[in-house]
Amino acid sequence: MPQQAHTQQARKILVTSALPYANGSIHLGHLLEHIQTDIWTRFQRMRGHQCYSVCADDAHGTPVMLKAQELGISPEEMVAKTRDEHHQDLLDFNVQYDNYHITHSDENKDLCNLVYNRLKEAGYISQRTISQLFDPEKNMFLPDRFVKGTCPSCGAEDQNGDSCDVCSATYDPTELKNPRSVVSGAEPVLRDSEHYFFDLPQFEGMLQDWLKSGAIQVEMANKLQEWFEQGLQQWDISRDAPYFGFEIPDAPGKFFYVWVDAPVGYMASFKNLCDKQNLNFDEFWGKDSDAELYHFIGKDITYFHCLFWPAMLEGAGFRKPTGVNVHGFVTVNGAKMSKSKGTFIKGRTYLDHLNPEYLRYYFASKSGDAVTDIDLNFEDFAQKVNSDLVGKVVNIASRCASFITKRFDGKLSSTVLEPELVAEFQQAESVIAEAYEKRQFNRAIREIMALADKANQFIDANAPWVTIKDETKQQFTHDVCSLGINLFRILVSYLKPVVPTLAAQSEQFLNDSLTWQSGQSLLTDHAINKFKALLQRVDMDKVNAMVEDSKENLAPTVQLDPNSPLAKDPIAETISFDDFAKIDLRIAKIAKAEHVEKADKLLRLELDLGGETRQVFAGIKSAYQPEDLEGKLTVMVANLAPRKMRFGMSEGMVLAAGPGGEDLWILNPEEGAQPGMKVK
Ligand code: MSP
Ligand code: ZN
Repeated sequence: MPQQAHTQQARKILVTSALPYANGSIHLGHLLEHIQTDIWTRFQRMRGHQCYSVCADDAHGTPVMLKAQELGISPEEMVAKTRDEHHQDLLDFNVQYDNYHITHSDENKDLCNLVYNRLKEAGYISQRTISQLFDPEKNMFLPDRFVKGTCPSCGAEDQNGDSCDVCSATYDPTELKNPRSVVSGAEPVLRDSEHYFFDLPQFEGMLQDWLKSGAIQVEMANKLQEWFEQGLQQWDISRDAPYFGFEIPDAPGKFFYVWVDAPVGYMASFKNLCDKQNLNFDEFWGKDSDAELYHFIGKDITYFHCLFWPAMLEGAGFRKPTGVNVHGFVTVNGAKMSKSKGTFIKGRTYLDHLNPEYLRYYFASKSGDAVTDIDLNFEDFAQKVNSDLVGKVVNIASRCASFITKRFDGKLSSTVLEPELVAEFQQAESVIAEAYEKRQFNRAIREIMALADKANQFIDANAPWVTIKDETKQQFTHDVCSLGINLFRILVSYLKPVVPTLAAQSEQFLNDSLTWQSGQSLLTDHAINKFKALLQRVDMDKVNAMVEDSKENLAPTVQLDPNSPLAKDPIAETISFDDFAKIDLRIAKIAKAEHVEKADKLLRLELDLGGETRQVFAGIKSAYQPEDLEGKLTVMVANLAPRKMRFGMSEGMVLAAGPGGEDLWILNPEEGAQPGMKVK
């Protein structure tokens, strides 16, 4: 593996994390990846390699577009704001990218066009017409996730467009029964449209070789074999307007699918950095690049990074990734993160209560190079941070520092006790480095903590707090405390990629700056600064407060009388005033009312809106004779999407109230109202 084949020579490395979508907040799940990337990058830099890291916000796609509409702002405005928020969250977790960009950028647009044009010239792009579900009211094609309906397999209602949560069947959204658009509630219709396809099957041999090159964990490479067995398919890379994205060159109204421009966003963020720092883009992305390129990603997006992306790069004449490092998912207290339990925790909420170094340390202690999920158990989290970082590492310094300051003039001694112990700490460097290099951070942490135990045993055995009282043992006490501080220094140099703030404060205390090699020589005759508490213990009350703060109240808070209608029929989710204002209520005159054959509840009404006539089927037959209604005024929802019913189109809704049966009253506006008037 190229990762291991490094020599003493400085390597050129570019690292990325997956680009968070710009329509939600950074949460603790995202942070696992950013923290892993940041630790690895810091480690490489400490070792003297030229290691750049870039990330960005992923700005495009249907969910982003709809979210902006929901907020009533432009998508450009929303993604710019979200990008800034994400970047600040990451910085506050000490995650430092050389560049944090956005995919809605000029660099990305140019690079997308370049990649696309090269693929097209090489004959990898074709066009064909496909038929897809279309929302006739919103006037847009619907991605699978935006269609819901009854499962064609088991009949469960309200299932997603691509798979059923109840029976796990997977299907095409066109197979759903009673399909509805999630966006408007309208019944989707099939509509044809011309799409652009990328010829993935042409790359099968190359991809097989690449997967065997050690670019990806063996377990993932094996899993990817399933896709080859099923046969690679042409990849649909276009989407129809309205779509927030980049328009495809020479194809008006057609946009690149977000998963085309998102990975190109890695290049674009780096390009933006090159322009700022005068770096050579081709040295890292050119076909003959001798730089290493690694993507850190979650297991859910392996498909995109290990099939489409290397094929796009190859087809467009760029280099392929050296490695794709896949991690599992974060669970909290053993379960999927949940908004109602308060375990869907945003990065910002965490920061409001807890020190980011705790999370960095905890994730490091749990991160290996396997694709297993990682559980953030709060008891374990508090216990591990308190016993390892506070109880073992910081404790070494706090046990020795005050004697040096108060009794030995703030200076470390010039003699080194226990050379074997020192040698053991120094020799551990290669094992710890290897563990970091292979992203086995858990192994690195285990090695470091085993050393911390030894340092504490050394101090316990020599009890400087006892010998300090013996006038004849002053030199010995000085030597013991000095060695303690030196061992602490070596440990912190190994921990520096994980806990940079703790390391920076320790450097201040040690009056020294720590490199990876620092531990290979000791500080003797060296003045240190006064010791200040480096890290507080994790306070479970703060953890609990964070969980409370993260709870989204989905259930009613007051105790309801079981007889209250609200108990049976809770009030629906709050809508914004904007949502409400969308409902257009109008005075309508019932021009005609008649029975509907074979319908026991419905009357067919013809409503005069003062210039426009609407047909509405209303479930008020139990309360009214048709002839009593004719000529009356009522209130209707005039802009409801037309709905096809068994008896014909229903083009609106009449408002009525009452317990039902005979006691059901259509709303009767006061005199003076005129058909077509807006109800305010
Ligand atoms: N925008 C795409 C990535 C494009 S990369 C060219 C995306 N965004 S995401 O916001 O949904 O996810 C970003 C990263 O966070 C992904 O690697 C994803 O796997 C990871 N995670 C999201 N939730 C996670 C957990 N609960 N646990 C661990 N990682 C998780 O996908
Ligand atoms: Zn089902």
